[in-house]
Amino acid sequence: MPTEVSSLSATSSNRSQAEPLQSSADITPYAQAEEEFQILLLQDDLDGLLERRPSLIQEFESVLERALALAYGLAAQTSPNEKVEAARLFTQRILYRIYRLKLFWFDSIRHYKNEDSDYLRRIRRLIETPWQAWEMSAMNIEALKAEPIEEALRRRTHEDLDPPPTNSQRRFASQATQAGYRRLLEIASLDGLVEASQLSRMLGGASNEIHAMLTRLIVEEYGGGQLRRKHSSYFAAMLTELGMNTTPEHYFDRVPWQVLASINQSFVLSERKVFYLRYIGGLTYFEICVPSAFRHYQQAAERLGLSVAAGGYWALHIREDERHGKWMLNDIALPLAARYPDDAWELLLGYDLQKRISDRAGSAVLASVWEAERQALAVA
Ligand SMILES: [Fe+2]
Ligand SMILES: [Fe+2]
Repeated sequence: MPTEVSSLSATSSNRSQAEPLQSSADITPYAQAEEEFQILLLQDDLDGLLERRPSLIQEFESVLERALALAYGLAAQTSPNEKVEAARLFTQRILYRIYRLKLFWFDSIRHYKNEDSDYLRRIRRLIETPWQAWEMSAMNIEALKAEPIEEALRRRTHEDLDPPPTNSQRRFASQATQAGYRRLLEIASLDGLVEASQLSRMLGGASNEIHAMLTRLIVEEYGGGQLRRKHSSYFAAMLTELGMNTTPEHYFDRVPWQVLASINQSFVLSERKVFYLRYIGGLTYFEICVPSAFRHYQQAAERLGLSVAAGGYWALHIREDERHGKWMLNDIALPLAARYPDDAWELLLGYDLQKRISDRAGSAVLASVWEAERQALAVA
């Protein structure tokens, strides 16, 4: 990368302190390309700069192109798993870095100067097109369209409200130590500290009963305008109780690609009104599945003897999301299905897709938890 751009390197690094920077000798091509991309994000008039000097992005784009083929193309079936996973992590991190500009982080205003860049939009599309096609290839759209919508939504939400625990959930509840529990918080903090942010992107526009209920939902997620009651504040309290860092994105380097894909999926849908129903389907799944998923985390916190504050976020959601799930089904998803009968299948698609993405993310979190346990044992 030429000096004009490289010179910003020291100020642009946004790496967390969870993993120290590698020395330049052993930095991977992905880490190098991501650093270069972060530098580009901070350039004045990025689009103009790249028009004058297209060579600046040659290396980044060739790394990205190879990664996309490996992550979501045919090569994913024949390449070593480790390589495929690394490519997915790189592409999801780049996509997240673009989408995070849609939220405000109370940092320097200058960080947002390329929010509307054509180039960033192009990179976003470059990643999203093969990634979304890959996700959609697991869905049977014709079958979804054929399902009777009300019955299909009621059956899904009933089944997902209180499913029997999986073996890995049981194992976490009964065996995880503080090392594993902390790893869970590190990963979950990326979303937990800015919880429900994407929902805020769906609320502008005309009002009706559906809109009023969504507004009521976000008002609860945001603690009725009181910071200490905002759900993300409960997450921060959990971190504080364990002496962990409460800065959003501090543990970014800990986050597996599967969790980034789940966050990016919310961005993909909430930034496009054409996906309104799909987004609502996904959010319905979220609110429905949380009480049962969080119960295992809460059990682990209790078994570890953690304070009420150190597990309060789980308890809050077990309590509130059962109600939120009912709102999503009865007052938002079903009325939307009645209002848009021809497109109502999109609610099912959003629901099923989110379930698949969330299950995959949950497994990745637990794999990382056991890795943290092994590391802790090795050190002891
Ligand atoms: Fe919440
Ligand atoms: Fe909720």
